Amino acid sequence: MKKIGIAINDSKDWTAKALIESTRQKKIEPSVINLKNAAATIHLGVSYSANGTDLSELDALIVRDVGAGVFDGVSFRFDVLRQLAKEGVMVVNTPEAIQNAANKYYSTCLLAKADLPIPRTEAVQSTGDALNSIAEFGDAIIKPVFGYKGIGILRIKDGTACWSDKRETTTSIEKLINDMIRERGMLYIQKFITNPGRDIRAFVVNGNVIGAIYRTAPKGSWINNISQGGTAGRCVLSSELEELCIKAAETIGTVFAGVDIIEGPDDATILEVNGTPSGEGVYKAWGINAAEHIIDYITSRT
Ligand SMILES: Nc1ncnc2c1ncn2[C@@H]1O[C@H](COP(=O)(O)OP(=O)(O)O)[C@@H](O)[C@H]1O
Ligand SMILES: [Mg+2]
Repeated sequence: MKKIGIAINDSKDWTAKALIESTRQKKIEPSVINLKNAAATIHLGVSYSANGTDLSELDALIVRDVGAGVFDGVSFRFDVLRQLAKEGVMVVNTPEAIQNAANKYYSTCLLAKADLPIPRTEAVQSTGDALNSIAEFGDAIIKPVFGYKGIGILRIKDGTACWSDKRETTTSIEKLINDMIRERGMLYIQKFITNPGRDIRAFVVNGNVIGAIYRTAPKGSWINNISQGGTAGRCVLSSELEELCIKAAETIGTVFAGVDIIEGPDDATILEVNGTPSGEGVYKAWGINAAEHIIDYITSRT
């Protein structure tokens, strides 16, 4: 009997529930754990447990969610995942892939080095450099390097700043950038790609696009994330775009990934690769269950 662990952080999360259900359909009762409950005992060797499960005993651990938090805790959870992988537990996605994907600066570099199309991007550490990049791009977007769900994204167009949650800014751009540099230590600045009010989320599992959706921003908004009010609809990818998504997922090192693509006036570019994506959008639009594909991948290899 295979021992499959599923690391979740929210028992109500659609993808967490789908992964548990899909494992049960294979007649395997998964060990559901929360990495935030993981503990290590270091004495004559090292052992790891979470929610009553000895993590080293698992054949595979599917990571739905590592859990957010402060540096020491997140770092510890990634260390445990790395150690389990080293001990032979099949950790999917691998901790390296999840870290690559979570870091927008690093992942954009990986994609660019693999000759995949990305929007023009600059990473800077001073207000002067940031203002230069913004001026150069004309229409610029600043994203938290470890951001998600469209949270904390700022667009600066023709000297006007606008947050992804529509929060108004009353300060000058220079002061705003100065404060952001102080807070974050660096800024990840990208050219805003003019688009038809929507972007694409493709779900890739094991080198195949299993389904894709358009995410259309609410009227008057420029942010397409579902969690920012975007609506999902079916999208059929061209074979070129499918190929792009597959290469992007492979470049980041993910077995399963959510690849965000935006279609600009000339071509399509990759906005990001998510290493812990939600399967809900593709399921609701298409009835395609990513969790089943992920469990098939795991059970065929353990
Ligand atoms: N360079 C860009 N040009 C146009 N829109 C963008 C750009 N970058 C991000 N966006 C918008 O912001 C959303 C969130 O950006 P993304 O890079 O996917 O970060 P997150 O991890 O927060 O989802 C995108 O889905 C898109 O709607
Ligand atoms: Mg995204």
